[in-house]
Amino acid sequence: MTQMSEPTPDDRPPQDQERVRASYDAVAAMYTERVHDELRNKPLDRGLLIAFADQVVSDHGPGALVCDMGCGPGHVGAFLAARGLSVTGIDLSPSMIERARTLHPEMTFEVGSMTALDVPDRRYQGIVAFYSIIHLSSDAEVRAALGEFHRVLSADGLLLVAVHLGEHGDEIEHSEEMLGVHVDVDFRFFDIEALAATIEDSGFRLAARLIRAPYPDAEVQTTRGYLLARRLARRLK
Ligand SMILES: C[S@@+](CC[C@H](N)C(=O)[O-])C[C@H]1O[C@@H](n2cnc3c(N)ncnc32)[C@H](O)[C@@H]1O
Repeated sequence: MTQMSEPTPDDRPPQDQERVRASYDAVAAMYTERVHDELRNKPLDRGLLIAFADQVVSDHGPGALVCDMGCGPGHVGAFLAARGLSVTGIDLSPSMIERARTLHPEMTFEVGSMTALDVPDRRYQGIVAFYSIIHLSSDAEVRAALGEFHRVLSADGLLLVAVHLGEHGDEIEHSEEMLGVHVDVDFRFFDIEALAATIEDSGFRLAARLIRAPYPDAEVQTTRGYLLARRLARRLK
């Protein structure tokens, strides 16, 4: 199942988004069943999401608009909605969006890609991207997504990103099976220092970072990394 990649993050070819979409369409039912209430078992994730929501409400007031980017079945966004935010979920997979709409009628959802968003400039006061940039294989794709996040965030908007971390730096694993379903998708395991630098280069100031061990029995056993950043008025590069 696993092949480590040779090229550097800059040299990698972009991931075929059609394959990612088809893979998540295929696994949507199983994935939803597995993760829709997973935050119950992840106190550190809940703590970060509470801090994110409280900060956005403090900055912009209740009802501030936040995007759950690569939302899957929408449980992360729903947690934020319960803390007083208005939340839109965006995901590449129509099947995921269908499930999210059924589970969370209090939110709005759209099919779309984070590397080319059909969203006006400065639309959101916050973006959470939980385990969704993990399908952007190359640094060029990550920079494209971060450029879009910068464009659609308000002047001082907040960004919270969650990723898997590589054991030996930035790594790619190809997977043909997820939750017993055939898929054809690459997973990226990030180097947190390199990702933090890319986020800063994309026009954000880092506010916090967290690395945690996996929760036994609650999730795939990978080290997790979280970066909280605030959008700067202008991009540095
Ligand atoms: C591992 S799941 C994470 C879902 C959810 N955020 C969570 O924490 O469980 C990755 C999600 O990212 C979505 N995704 C992958 N590439 C994307 C892209 N370019 N734009 C939007 N969503 C994308 C997938 O369709 C999938 O639902």
